[in-house]
Amino acid sequence: MLNFKEKYEEYRQDFEKLLKCYCNNLNCRPQILADSINYSLTLGGKRIRPVLMFAVGDMLGVERDKIVNYALAIEMIHTYSLIHDDLPEMDDDDFRRGKPSNHKVFGAGNAVLAGDGLLNTAYSILLKECHKGTEYISAGEFVCDCAGIYGMIAGQSADLMHEKEKKFNEPTLNFIYENKTAKLLIAPIVVPSILSGGRCYSELRSFGRDLGCLFQITDDILDVEGSFETLGKSIGKDEKEGKYTAIEVYGLEGSKLRADVLAERCCGLLEGICGNSEFLVELVNYVRNRNG
Ligand code: IPE
Ligand code: IPE
Ligand code: MG
Ligand code: MG
Ligand code: MG
Repeated sequence: MLNFKEKYEEYRQDFEKLLKCYCNNLNCRPQILADSINYSLTLGGKRIRPVLMFAVGDMLGVERDKIVNYALAIEMIHTYSLIHDDLPEMDDDDFRRGKPSNHKVFGAGNAVLAGDGLLNTAYSILLKECHKGTEYISAGEFVCDCAGIYGMIAGQSADLMHEKEKKFNEPTLNFIYENKTAKLLIAPIVVPSILSGGRCYSELRSFGRDLGCLFQITDDILDVEGSFETLGKSIGKDEKEGKYTAIEVYGLEGSKLRADVLAERCCGLLEGICGNSEFLVELVNYVRNRNG
């Protein structure tokens, strides 16, 4: 019998070790640059993206060594997106991962630079992988597309553009969700497939999209019903800032029903997948029922 919590923790710890090793060797100057990057990277967080990557890697039989640097790069891109997302000119959030946001500690200018630094470092890691062969180049390209103007950045741009809107519709919400959130969950799920010669590529891509949308719906629900203690970030901000959320499109109860539908769809997709997907099925349930 699989113990989901233990396995999640094992994957998470594996990643923390890797990250710690990387951060210990970070010696850029001035010191404030290294400090602000380290601050956000090592604050914790669920590390769901590296956990997903390691789990899919195990399911497809991809050696861990092949994927670790992609896990590092994607978590860096994710962390940079959070630093920028919290800036006063974006969501204006004072807390992240239970601590003051990067700009609250280091100032907005340094927070912009910490984000830029993380993004550049991620790309440098991805480029170095390209020397290993063509499938590594394809995996790097995939991550870049997920993070860029046809991915997360497009979603963040739409999120800002639709702030304070009075009318809501599902296609707009889907565009925001599929880009700002799902693309950075699709990336760690699909990279192991690309590195294994494309095994279960389209099923995993669809799974990543649905899991990403589920993840963002539960994030929106928790912004209404969650607590600072378990989330580590301020709640009630979406309504205050006039965000385009699932709550506005479906209502709170409707959002929960929609989350159930997406969770079922995720599990359905996993049924058709090569390999043992037991851990991923449990992970879908965890995302659906999470409180942090
Ligand atoms: C927060 O991501 C931003 C969203 C996409 C909703 P996470 O909830 O994965 O944040 P951490 O990494 O655990 O802090
Ligand atoms: C953030 O979505 C998505 C990205 C950072 C790409 P949210 O703005 O809803 O995330 P939180 O609630 O601040 O974590
Ligand atoms: Mg945001
Ligand atoms: Mg935000
Ligand atoms: Mg949110």
